[in-house]
Amino acid sequence: MTQEGYLSEAPAAATSGGLASERFAERMSAAHGDGVVDTERVDLLAGKAIKALNDIIIEERVSYDEYNALKAWLIKVGEDGEWPLFLDVWLEHSVEEVATDHREGNKGSIEGPYYVEDSPEVPWNGTIPMRDDEPGTPLKFSGQVRSTDGTPLQDARVELWHADSDGFYSQFAPGIPEWNLRSTWVVDGDGNFEINTIRPAPYQIPTDGACGQLIAAAGWHAWRPAHLHFKVHAPGHELLTAQLYFPGDEHNDDDIASAVKPELMLDPQPAASGKGENVQYDFVLDPEA
Ligand code: DHB
Ligand code: FE
Repeated sequence: MTQEGYLSEAPAAATSGGLASERFAERMSAAHGDGVVDTERVDLLAGKAIKALNDIIIEERVSYDEYNALKAWLIKVGEDGEWPLFLDVWLEHSVEEVATDHREGNKGSIEGPYYVEDSPEVPWNGTIPMRDDEPGTPLKFSGQVRSTDGTPLQDARVELWHADSDGFYSQFAPGIPEWNLRSTWVVDGDGNFEINTIRPAPYQIPTDGACGQLIAAAGWHAWRPAHLHFKVHAPGHELLTAQLYFPGDEHNDDDIASAVKPELMLDPQPAASGKGENVQYDFVLDPEA
């Protein structure tokens, strides 16, 4: 991919990783202290995780060289602030599956490491904050928020955040205005919204930190397909966290974060005006149990 927007180079992994770690710690302490899990579950889950790793060591006859490489790498993940990145790329998709498999409405997808709460509110048909000369194809995204029984949800809020046309997120890469390509829509009386934004670029997870080192050492690639992130809230309904994708992206079938599902694929069409694209997608929320 050519990178021809505002930034000539990607932020250092330790910059985006450090910011993602800080943001996560802030949200945890605001929500419920230290993320306490009861003793029985820790005994069960930590016990199983340790056993699984020991089984691999025995089965694969792991050497001291390999063990020390792992130790050095784990230390570096922490130094680079990349635990949020590592966990959200390689484990969150399974947690998301467990959390949403009962749903009749949209099941959604992972949150990832780059969500920020309290983005600026805009009206139901507003434009996301962007720079005057924001590069990228204009995208008008319209839809409706409904309950599983078809009732429009007029008190819904639709949060959207996404990367710019260089694949960078505001607040995690230098030189981008604070709320660039992040905002919260207040839907109209029929639960409708019409979001004006631009198409994001595919995103490569930072390659110069510990996660990038693992990817290179294993001969993998670092790409996530282009995606829009959403959180859809409505009173009395389960929060929907989703990502939506664009057909034809070369990494839709091998997303490094395993977060693509067929029902999350958009179908954008050229706008009648000849400028940009329009796309329609509805969000269906499950009532809280
Ligand atoms: C990562 C980045 C994303 O934009 C995302 O949606 C999921 C994971 C990451 O860098 O780990
Ligand atoms: Fe993302």
